[in-house]
Amino acid sequence: MPDIALIEPLSKALGVSVIELMSGEYITNNNISSNILRSKFYVCPVCGNIIHSNGEALISCCGITLPPLEAEDADSCHPIEIQPVEDEHYISISHEMTKEHYISFIAFVSTDKCSIIKLYPESNAQARLNLRGGGYVYIYCNKHGLIKKKV
Ligand SMILES: [Fe+2]
Repeated sequence: MPDIALIEPLSKALGVSVIELMSGEYITNNNISSNILRSKFYVCPVCGNIIHSNGEALISCCGITLPPLEAEDADSCHPIEIQPVEDEHYISISHEMTKEHYISFIAFVSTDKCSIIKLYPESNAQARLNLRGGGYVYIYCNKHGLIKKKV
């Protein structure tokens, strides 16, 4: 691990963040508001921090550079059920919610909106969201990662 005291002055002099300098990647976004459907999620494996980005970014948390999560399609172990309720939708996942294995969040991403609902162990894997306009429902399982369903 390089000495941060040597890297920081270089980072300031070049106007490039330490994380970009160390990774060799320089991040630029030309039109960040172009389409939020291309959103990326990052989850810190140490503290559980959830980070959402709708553009390219280098994300670091707890001293770890986080890669963007790759979403898998919903499977039989993580079935995402969606039912209309009044002017919203009731989303539920038949999945255990123990401290060891649980759904950490449910999110909905459309072309102009991102909603994230945090869930906790011992609670129910369910949420109410407005899915108007369509997009993707994402769930994050602490053991199996990010899972998506087109709506
Ligand atoms: Fe799971």
